[in-house]
Amino acid sequence: MGRAAGARPPDPPQVGSETVHRRASRSLALGLLLVVACGPAISAQPAARPSPTPVPLPTLDPSQVSHGREVYVQHCASCHGAEAQGAPDWQQPDARGDLPAPPHDDTGHTWRHSDTQLSEIMRGGLRDQFNKTLELTMPPFQTDQLSDQEISDMVAYFKSLWSPEHRQFQEEQNRRPPIPMPSPNAEGGR
Ligand code: HEC
Repeated sequence: MGRAAGARPPDPPQVGSETVHRRASRSLALGLLLVVACGPAISAQPAARPSPTPVPLPTLDPSQVSHGREVYVQHCASCHGAEAQGAPDWQQPDARGDLPAPPHDDTGHTWRHSDTQLSEIMRGGLRDQFNKTLELTMPPFQTDQLSDQEISDMVAYFKSLWSPEHRQFQEEQNRRPPIPMPSPNAEGGR
């Protein structure tokens, strides 16, 4: 064999031919590429891990919670479920391609939003990202339908459904500077 000695370090004896070696490292690189490509999509959902210095959780007023539940049942339960458990198959798009109403308990993601964001969602309604009709996927509730007090009572009711970890996460959102939310009417609205 005319291979110049020292041009390339000899293959490790336990590994097979060089081609196998190269192929292995190419698929490793591909694997890493996939991990990198999927990374941002996964990390877009912030994990609910307790912060190093837990913020104190305000005690919920039981009468506010029960009033919030009554208001919820009257205005929201038809879509979000009597126990705020969400529509059946809420993670599957419906016939129109919209996502059905999600739960407000620990199984949903309502607890990821600050009190301010939650009241903005209720006041402004929501548009599903695939909904191209003029109608919002969730209707807006203006002051003639819900008072500010009724909104904060409903938020208290939602909080009563959350685990201490989720309440902790949500309380931290309340203490952050506000993140501007896109208007649900921004695209194709009235
Ligand atoms: C006509 C059905 C309908 C009614 C009534 C309704 N919602 Fe919704 N709601 C939805 C749908 C559908 C979504 C999800 C829209 C999307 O993101 O695509 C939603 C989303 C939400 C969200 C956001 C949840 C999250 O995880 O981001 C909140 C909060 C919410 N609704 C609260 C309420 C409250 C409180 C009421 C009653 C005052 C109410 N909704 C009434 C259909 C409804």
